[in-house]
Amino acid sequence: MPERKNTIPIWVWIVGAVLVIGCIFAGYRTIETRQHLEAVKSKLVSVKHLAAKTAAESDAQINELQIKLDQATSEIGQLRNNLDTAQSQLKERASSLETMRSELESAKQSAAKTAAEADAQINELQTKLDQATSEIGQLRNKLDKVVEVHAEIMTPLERVASTPKGQLKSPYPDFASVAEEGHRKYMAAGCNGCHGGGGGGGMAAPVTNPIWIYGDDDDTLFRLITLGTGKLSPDDAFRKLGYKRKGSEFVVGPMPHFGKIIKTDDDLWKIIAWMRTVHCSRRVEDRC
Ligand code: HEC
Repeated sequence: MPERKNTIPIWVWIVGAVLVIGCIFAGYRTIETRQHLEAVKSKLVSVKHLAAKTAAESDAQINELQIKLDQATSEIGQLRNNLDTAQSQLKERASSLETMRSELESAKQSAAKTAAEADAQINELQTKLDQATSEIGQLRNKLDKVVEVHAEIMTPLERVASTPKGQLKSPYPDFASVAEEGHRKYMAAGCNGCHGGGGGGGMAAPVTNPIWIYGDDDDTLFRLITLGTGKLSPDDAFRKLGYKRKGSEFVVGPMPHFGKIIKTDDDLWKIIAWMRTVHCSRRVEDRC
């Protein structure tokens, strides 16, 4: 029997060793890989948890944002509504302003027209006013003249008082022209009661005969009739002026005063004018 010799060839050993080493290495590698994968897995799990957590948070944020978005949307809607309302109000306002503007425009035009008309009327009135003013001026002049004339109209008494003795003069030298009027005044004053309607006398002296008791000048006759004579002359005024009887009639008595009864000196001058026309010196027949 041959000694049992190590018959396993060296290359088997080598291959076996290589295989063993390879297996050991592979096992090691596998373990390493597994550990690595394990670590990766646990990392992935934690990542997954984180992701889940993040997702949940994101969801919550998304919900929150959604709510905010909804609110914003509804606010925008409201704002839009408000805006629409405001816009339509503005449109209304603009159109009413437009209406107002056109109304004002037409008012302005009619005002301008009215103003022009008013101007024309004012001019017309001014013209009339000017005319009226000049008429008033003319009337005032006339009035002044009337007043002047009137100032000269006095009662016989005033005339006697303001005129020195001897200066009264009839404004009617042509006495026949006012005789008729004078006769009417003679009757109206009531002279006829004593001197007769024709002046031929009655209970008092006639003014038709040649005798002029105190004289026949204008001044004497005017004062005699105005002041009266004798005791019927207030304060004996006629006698005090120095008038004395120059002649005497069949009836001797005082004559009442007419200085206030006869309204104006003009009336008295007319009465005297009439008396002169009936005096005998004027008559064609039966002269003095
Ligand atoms: C109440 C009667 C009476 C009345 C009214 C009267 N007289 Fe006489 N008159 C006399 C008497 C009276 C005498 C004479 C006076 C004398 O002698 O003093 C007289 C004298 C006169 C004389 C002077 C006559 C002459 O011959 O000289 C005249 C003028 C006169 N009168 C005019 C008038 C006039 C005008 C009136 C009217 C306004 C009038 N008398 C009204 C009574 C009157």
